[in-house]
Amino acid sequence: MKFKEEIDRRRTFAIISHPDAGKTTLTEKLLLFGGAIQVAGAVKSNKIKKTATSDFMEIEKQRGISVATSVMGFDYKDLKVNILDTPGHQDFAEDTFRTLTAVDSVIVVIDVAKGVEIQTEKLVKVCKMRDTPIIVFINKLDRVGKDAFDLMDEIEQKLGLSVMPLSWPIGMGNEFQGVYNIYEKKLMLFRAHGKQSEEESLEFTDLSDPLLEEYVGARAAKTLREEVEMVTEIYPEFNREEYLEGLLTPVFFGSAINNFGVKELLDCFVEVAPSPTNSETEEREISPYEENFTGFVFKIHANIDPKHRNRIAFVKICSGKFERNKNYQHIRLGRALKFSNPTSFMASKKEIVDEAFPGDIVGLHDSGNFKIGDALSEGESLKFKGIPSFSPEQFKYIENADPMKAKQLNKGIDQLMDEGVAQLFVNLRNGRKIIGTVGALQFDVIQHRLKHEYNASCRWEPINLHKACWFTSDNKEQLANFDNYRVRLIAEDKYKRRVFLTTSEYEIRMEQQNFPDIKFHYTSEFD
Ligand code: G4P
Repeated sequence: MKFKEEIDRRRTFAIISHPDAGKTTLTEKLLLFGGAIQVAGAVKSNKIKKTATSDFMEIEKQRGISVATSVMGFDYKDLKVNILDTPGHQDFAEDTFRTLTAVDSVIVVIDVAKGVEIQTEKLVKVCKMRDTPIIVFINKLDRVGKDAFDLMDEIEQKLGLSVMPLSWPIGMGNEFQGVYNIYEKKLMLFRAHGKQSEEESLEFTDLSDPLLEEYVGARAAKTLREEVEMVTEIYPEFNREEYLEGLLTPVFFGSAINNFGVKELLDCFVEVAPSPTNSETEEREISPYEENFTGFVFKIHANIDPKHRNRIAFVKICSGKFERNKNYQHIRLGRALKFSNPTSFMASKKEIVDEAFPGDIVGLHDSGNFKIGDALSEGESLKFKGIPSFSPEQFKYIENADPMKAKQLNKGIDQLMDEGVAQLFVNLRNGRKIIGTVGALQFDVIQHRLKHEYNASCRWEPINLHKACWFTSDNKEQLANFDNYRVRLIAEDKYKRRVFLTTSEYEIRMEQQNFPDIKFHYTSEFD
């Protein structure tokens, strides 16, 4: 196959949702269609059960499982589909944010009864920062949930997305009869037989056809006709260009557990979703079709076996062809490296690859050379954009609990931060180290891993902080004044960027008034 065809046939995406909306179930059904797995239940839910917040074995298991299912690739209709898994637990949201930098599109799963939940909001915000094309799948139609129009409003209001339903439900819960696929003009009937169910698909171009009554009954037929008419009146027509620019969001309805509406979603997805797109670097935009290989590390996974401290760095291929045993330049280290065992991930199977193309992810065995965001190329110096740090939401001072092991502790902290487990800030006034995380669970994970992997002990001390804001200004005088005035709350992140550690939203608003020329940012990447 020609190089261009290889690129054009790739669809690299992530499925995101609030925990429990059905991400794992949907992933599994997609893999079943792709033939990547044969039986349901093969994909382990990689979420940590809510009760297990301090169960370290569970954390370790989670880490192990998510290596195996980090990237699930399969062939479908001549296309190569790469699903990038994201951690189910919201305390690992930062990991998910970074994974989103490596995908070309996303599918958002929403529970029909719960609607838009907090984690969905956060994740979609990140997608919107990058204009990532989004498709929404409303799940669990076999249960009673919110009215479909209300849900559309909720998605528009809470997520700020412009929606275009491509399918529409016929009833819900016990009265769920299926969906009308507006995109393909098909009637998809849901036939439940006790615990089993099947999907019946009928061409149905004209909803006024009296056959509709026969299939779904008079009442449901009337409602469907009225609602689909309203849908076509209210919402814009589907326009692929607008979807690709992140301006229009197609919506599907279904029930993942019943395998209902999943094939339609997949069929539409592979048709409209983007193949690998351009990547931005500080120097220039990179086209996937360029001959020279470039790629960046978006995730680092420590090995589950603490005795072997090797790690896997996940590299997204942005351009050119990646080849095994070829020398590539590690830009930050200024050194050539070659990789004899690059791994690709086909469902839960790992295998060594000889070559990989833009859109693919390769796993590189690493003994400590990589940090999140590192670039590889054939010599050109590049710094990829779009891999920001996000402000943590929980903060604690980290203190050494064993004075004999200070070196081990510092090494452990450095390496865990390179992996992106949490963020480190050093208070400029007193030199104390502050760890910031998205969720409380990471503090347990860090303490546990420092002990078991680095033989170091730490102790946490409370600090009352709300957010970490990166700040910039062209007004040097104001910057200097701010530094002086707020000296107790200014720290440096690991890239030596200045960060204002705020105790409240109100405080930021006040500072913004006092220092109008300073810009405060909740992510580390800004224009
Ligand atoms: P997540 O990865 O987004 O966290 O969600 P997951 O797929 O694990 O699904 C969460 C729960 O919702 C699971 O039930 C799953 O079986 C159920 N579920 C998924 N899709 C549907 C659907 O279409 N209809 C209905 N009614 N339920 C659905 P659980 O009881 O938490 O787990 P399990 O014991 O079934 O594994």
